[in-house]
Amino acid sequence: MSRLFYLETFGCQMNVVDSERIVDLLQELGYCQVETPETADLILLNTCSVRAKAERKVYGHLGRFKPLKDARPDLILGVGGCVAQQEGEKMLAQVPYLDLVFGTHNIHALPELVLNAEQKRQRGAATELLDRETRLRLFPQRSSGESVTRFVTVMQGCDNFCSYCIVPHVRGREVSRPSGEILTEIRSLAEQGVREVTLLGQNVNSYGLKEDGERSFAALLGEVQKVDGIERIRFTTSHPKDLSNELIDCFSHLDKLCHHLHLPVQCGSDRILEAMNRGYTAKEYLAKVGRLREACPDIRLTTDIIVGFPGEGEDEFRQTLDLVGEVGYADAFTFLYSARPGTAAAELPDTVDAEDKQHRFERLVELQTANNEATWAADVGSAYEVLVEGESRQGDGQLFGRTTWNRIVNFSGPASLVGRTVAVKITRNFRNSQLGELA
Ligand code: SAH
Ligand code: SF4
Ligand code: F3S
Repeated sequence: MSRLFYLETFGCQMNVVDSERIVDLLQELGYCQVETPETADLILLNTCSVRAKAERKVYGHLGRFKPLKDARPDLILGVGGCVAQQEGEKMLAQVPYLDLVFGTHNIHALPELVLNAEQKRQRGAATELLDRETRLRLFPQRSSGESVTRFVTVMQGCDNFCSYCIVPHVRGREVSRPSGEILTEIRSLAEQGVREVTLLGQNVNSYGLKEDGERSFAALLGEVQKVDGIERIRFTTSHPKDLSNELIDCFSHLDKLCHHLHLPVQCGSDRILEAMNRGYTAKEYLAKVGRLREACPDIRLTTDIIVGFPGEGEDEFRQTLDLVGEVGYADAFTFLYSARPGTAAAELPDTVDAEDKQHRFERLVELQTANNEATWAADVGSAYEVLVEGESRQGDGQLFGRTTWNRIVNFSGPASLVGRTVAVKITRNFRNSQLGELA
């Protein structure tokens, strides 16, 4: 009988892609995935440490599994991802019932760690950051394309060291995968029925900048545009400082490129942006937004914003509100600043009063909720192209797909439409999705 594993994934799309690789490796070892931890022989958490709350969650979850481990000492418990990378081997000392720890560059070491735990009851950790050549060799890629949409990792790591951010510390330096390899993967996915690809990287638009003779990111998009079968292209996440004019122009001349861009601004005050080490001013950011809208008048923008960075005063916060009002984002992820050990900002005195921070956060959410509503409710009554991705989880003949602006639309229709692009009239708007009917 095959052994069972349970895997929980936290954090960003990088971790989601890494988890796909983890599933593949464990299946090769003869493990089958289960949806609940109770019957599993192996429990893994793929973790995120971007904010303190995310990190605390990991220890909370491990505590939840302790009774299972007490009842079945043979159960193997492991932690991977960004918390594992940050804490390393010392996690084994901290959590006595933990069997294995693997870092962000060490997914390939997982089978050996699991076998050691299984056969020799040996606890182990593999968390060293690897050199460029090894990482390029181990780059995550998937040859199987059983879904309509797929993420394709084109670069990994980050060299920006925004002063608040743990990511460069836990993901290592930037490496870009050779564009030839990326295109081969995308062509193979297209042959298997994939219709939409999202090029993925921590800082995706700095793709290739540090590799001699490599294509620019815009040129890479131009090549993906030529792949038969691919109907839609997206990419995430972009850094405003690396948003070149060449890339902006892609939105006007690549017809497969979707009309949505996630462009994290973080803050509207130049003084705070500088303290964050973001490499642009509010004015420069707004100028790029202006150029994007010239190139693609119906483009919708989403963003990330941090409230309560050390030293943020009421004036600086108002500048953030002003910028958010001016851009008119379709959606925004808003975060309360969280000091991360080892980052530059963690050394700054945290002067913002907790209550003030909370109040600012609520004001920002209120403004953005109104922007969201204004953007998405206006779609009601009109028909838009939707690439049908699958049947809704609820069953009942409901299909789902997305518009060019990356919003989920649910509607009734036959399963034969999956993989096709159809016109759907939007009938209702919800906080995170829309309801429609075939037009
Ligand atoms: N590479 C991407 C994603 C980074 S993490 C980018 O540059 O946009 C996603 C978001 O988490 C960031 O955009 C930022 O808004 C938020 N974030 C990162 N570190 C944070 C911290 N210490 N406190 C609060 N929010 C943080
Ligand atoms: Fe973090 Fe900045 Fe890199 Fe994004 S660009 S991952 S916010 S350091
Ligand atoms: Fe979190 Fe690591 Fe992603 S810290 S946001 S899972 S890169």
